[in-house]
Amino acid sequence: MIYILITVFFIGVAVVTFLLLQKTRNTNTVNTEKTELVNTTSPEKVKAFYNQYNDKFLEVYGDVIQAFRTTDVSKLLDYEIASMELKSGMNICDAGCGVCGPAIYFAEQCDVTVSAVTISEVQLKEANKRILLKGLNNKVNVHLGDYHQLPSLFAKETFDVVYFLESFGHSNNHSKAIDAAWDVLKPGGTLYIKDLFRKIAVIEEHQQKIDYEIGRINEAYKYNVADLYKVLDAMRRKGFAICFVKTIDLKLEDFENLTISNDFQELTGIAKIENWEDYIFPVDFFEIKCYKPQHELQYGLDKYFLQNMYWMQVHNKQQNELDYGKL
Ligand SMILES: C[S@@+](CC[C@H](N)C(=O)[O-])C[C@H]1O[C@@H](n2cnc3c(N)ncnc32)[C@H](O)[C@@H]1O
Repeated sequence: MIYILITVFFIGVAVVTFLLLQKTRNTNTVNTEKTELVNTTSPEKVKAFYNQYNDKFLEVYGDVIQAFRTTDVSKLLDYEIASMELKSGMNICDAGCGVCGPAIYFAEQCDVTVSAVTISEVQLKEANKRILLKGLNNKVNVHLGDYHQLPSLFAKETFDVVYFLESFGHSNNHSKAIDAAWDVLKPGGTLYIKDLFRKIAVIEEHQQKIDYEIGRINEAYKYNVADLYKVLDAMRRKGFAICFVKTIDLKLEDFENLTISNDFQELTGIAKIENWEDYIFPVDFFEIKCYKPQHELQYGLDKYFLQNMYWMQVHNKQQNELDYGKL
């Protein structure tokens, strides 16, 4: 009898332990789900944010409002020119242009025509002052508007390049911003995004800390830090061909090491780091470049030929319909 009781006791302990382990597992799952990031920004909030803090941004950042940068900011802009392959005569669109520091630089260095868009009327005014001062009115035009609505600001298939320099993450609807860029890009045009993206934790417990910090960035800067994979997915679903995704490859000796965002946080009190010891840097910076396919055979035969061929299928085009004369 005693043996039966002991056996029943151990079976009971085993069952209870098993159930407790299951519960812990489920709790972990629930915790991970809880870290699903909430999107609380909106173009209206972004507008109010830049209207309020424009002076402080100018004081700390100067005319180029990008945190991932070089000490000599022209080196960053030269790097971006090379990444986007800007060429003389191109018609380009700066989606989220700040006070047009980059747009003015690109127009001067590359002889491109820039249509720039900001959501903030305070930035619009500052940008116009700078354009006038440089005598670049015929090269840089700045518009007040929402980059999710690019097709309402510009005609379809207008631009060779549409770019977002640390502005894309303000979007409360990343797919919509990608769709808007697509509509105003010429076939064969380039979409370029340089921004910060959610870090993926190597050690599982870190993800909650990372997401907590991302929540603070989102709240403080009216941001919606993007998930790299979701952005790539949205681009590919639209039909974009991915040219590259990479960590921004600035020379280490030129890199400013993000001290500028600390300076801004010190000055404004915005998103100050509470506990440096426990802090995990919550984002990675990447540049993404992609390309809107073409029907013309001259492009059909380039290195993106598979994407171009698929694009021809989607639009029911045959090779014999293509303009061989252009070759
Ligand atoms: C961090 S600043 C970067 C400015 C600029 N790209 C530069 O490098 O100096 C972000 C910019 O994105 C703009 N922005 C954010 N959301 C926008 C929207 N929905 N439509 C237009 N501009 C937007 C802001 O007004 C601001 O100018």
